Amino acid sequence: MEKSASPLQISTDLARLDIPMIYRYLSEESSWAVGIGRDVVERSIDNSLCFGAYLDGTQIGFARVISDYATFANLVDVFVLPAYRGRGYSKQLIQAVVDHPSLQRLRRFTLATFDAHDLYRRFGFTAPSRPELLMEKYFPNLYLS
Ligand SMILES: CC(C)(COP(=O)(O)OP(=O)(O)OC[C@H]1O[C@@H](n2cnc3c(N)ncnc32)[C@H](O)[C@@H]1OP(=O)(O)O)[C@@H](O)C(=O)NCCC(=O)NCCS
Repeated sequence: MEKSASPLQISTDLARLDIPMIYRYLSEESSWAVGIGRDVVERSIDNSLCFGAYLDGTQIGFARVISDYATFANLVDVFVLPAYRGRGYSKQLIQAVVDHPSLQRLRRFTLATFDAHDLYRRFGFTAPSRPELLMEKYFPNLYLS
């Protein structure tokens, strides 16, 4: 009989995170943070609400939320390792993010995505209703210099 797939576990316990894996993915494979330093990755994790996704104790996905836990949050660094994609794991990860008790009744919850709009749309994210109100300081090549 075929062994059934083990369920995905999602945890916000910082101590469980596989920092070397997260650092390797972000600094080498991601489309947004190639070249980022390990110290920057660790500081960002230390100061965020982080979601690890685990299969049999091995971390295969990650999401990080920067928030004041009252009015605003920003979702960043979402990934599922390539070998585990296409199995619904990112949907479970984002569901855990939007269900988290500390991230309820926020006036604004933002994220930026290159091509995964349809993924986030299912969880209520939309294009900014008034983009003309938004401003930013953005240095996309910062980690390459
Ligand atoms: C995007 C990503 C997290 C999706 O993870 P995944 O576990 O393979 O996704 P799931 O299996 O949960 O399915 C995601 C659903 O969103 C849809 N989707 C929309 N845009 C997508 C995109 N750019 N990439 C993957 N899925 C996308 C899929 O078609 C799928 O829909 P379905 O359930 O109707 O088939 C993963 O491909 C990844 O890590 N990509 C590289 C990093 C990245 O782009 N992160 C997002 C930055 S905002």
